Amino acid sequence: MLFRFLLLLLICAPSALSAAPYQAMVVAAQKSAAEAGMAMLEKSGNAFDAAAATALALGVVEPGSSGIGGGGFFLLYIAREDRYVMIDARETSPKLAGNGEVFEQQSSIDGPQSAGVPGLAAGVDHLIETYGRLNRNVITQPAIDLASNGFAVGPRLRSMLEWRSSAFSDMARTTFLAGDTIRQPALADTLRRFARGGRDDFYRGETAGRLVADMKRDGGLIRESDLATYRVIEREPIIFDYRGFQFVSAALPSSGGMTLANVFGQLQDDNLKVLNQSDRIHLLVEAMKRAYRDRNAHMGDSDFVEIPDLLNPKRLQQQRAGIRMEHATPSSEIGNSSDAIGPGTDTTHFSVIDAEGNMVSATLSINYAFGSGYLSPSTGILLNDEMDDFATRPGKPNAFGLVQGSANAVAPGKRMLSSMTPTFVIGPDRTFIVGTPGGSRIISMVLLASLGFMLDETAAAEWVNAPRYHHQFLPDEIQHEQGAFNPDVANELQKRGHKLKLMKRRYGNMHAILIERETGKLTGIPDARGEGVAIRQE
Ligand code: GLY
Repeated sequence: MLFRFLLLLLICAPSALSAAPYQAMVVAAQKSAAEAGMAMLEKSGNAFDAAAATALALGVVEPGSSGIGGGGFFLLYIAREDRYVMIDARETSPKLAGNGEVFEQQSSIDGPQSAGVPGLAAGVDHLIETYGRLNRNVITQPAIDLASNGFAVGPRLRSMLEWRSSAFSDMARTTFLAGDTIRQPALADTLRRFARGGRDDFYRGETAGRLVADMKRDGGLIRESDLATYRVIEREPIIFDYRGFQFVSAALPSSGGMTLANVFGQLQDDNLKVLNQSDRIHLLVEAMKRAYRDRNAHMGDSDFVEIPDLLNPKRLQQQRAGIRMEHATPSSEIGNSSDAIGPGTDTTHFSVIDAEGNMVSATLSINYAFGSGYLSPSTGILLNDEMDDFATRPGKPNAFGLVQGSANAVAPGKRMLSSMTPTFVIGPDRTFIVGTPGGSRIISMVLLASLGFMLDETAAAEWVNAPRYHHQFLPDEIQHEQGAFNPDVANELQKRGHKLKLMKRRYGNMHAILIERETGKLTGIPDARGEGVAIRQE
């Protein structure tokens, strides 16, 4: 009897594995980076080789969003093992940052002191060595070519440059504001050294020496020992079920998977399909508010702080029981904490699948647009400003008037809490690879797109392109894009006590793949807000 029950469970449990062989696909924010990934597949590489090449190329052609001066998370599905793993290449705090005292006087956003120890080079190298098939030289070559030959500045990059260039160091100005083509010869040399020496060069070799010399001269905090002790960590993803779908998502130090699990855990017994628009949005917003409150107050690097049992089903049921359908609950009634989160604004996301069904969902970042604005002259590496993702001064407002909890306080070697949420959603017969940039709004964007996939009421492109809305506990308002609510729904939400805040700009840049597992049919869904593309292997 027990055996029959287990067998039934195995048959019914959604699996990312398929009966059908796939065409391969890469969906990324820039065509040249997606082509770099596809070139690896054409050379008989797998999805992990493609992801490594795409990540390195994006760091060159989308310099405002990610790069080897930053970090990120690669969520992998290894088909032959039917196994998921998350590669945590998040930055760490340099020792000289102490407990963050330095940020009482200095910015955690602009300048070399705002940089965490970069993780991407180690993450990419780990991906290649552990899961790839191709040689690091081959994988790095497209990025070297793009850095050395240059690329044309597109409208998206131009508007980011206009916005952020006031924070640029001299070398960043020279490199990025030279004209309509951006060439990065120093970065090309660093990538050549990376191709030869991998993480040994970056963290202990010539690149490390150059980077630290620049840091010492220009006021940065990263030293030899910070680089030498940097480690990539393989983590178990957050896996949970929601009404017949399985979510596989980012684990701490990303808050993404736990926050998604919190929202969907509260809504386990709600059939969203039968609710009218106003009720559905109200319920989602109320659940988000409570989940983000938990995120802001309690989450941090789990290797450094004890995380309470936030996903306990009883606790989530209690949270759900506190939601009233007729009234919005003010955030001040949910918790007396004034925790909130920093508004990280730029990052990148790409999705990959290969012919064997291996999948990658990767979200990579240098935090703000162009990170710290500091470009290390001798390496060409643009450094992140991820230190601002810490609660740099717990209990006190940061540069944006936001206050965060001590779980995410600065400590030497600690990883700053992230919102990056690379995710797989596995349904009975379809799988969705999804993720996006967008700071604290990443989680709600992934949530809304996943709901689109699960409810399946609109065309797939709409799951990514529909106007978005977001609530993050504080500020106590629904932030939304133009067109997110029709006038009747907007009136109804206001009647229930919600404050609506229209965002000046559309946000996010999602790059997703929909997989129909029986037929192997793939649909690439680049975000219409950006310049991304889906490339399919012929
Ligand atoms: N830097 C944005 C994030 O990790 O959430």
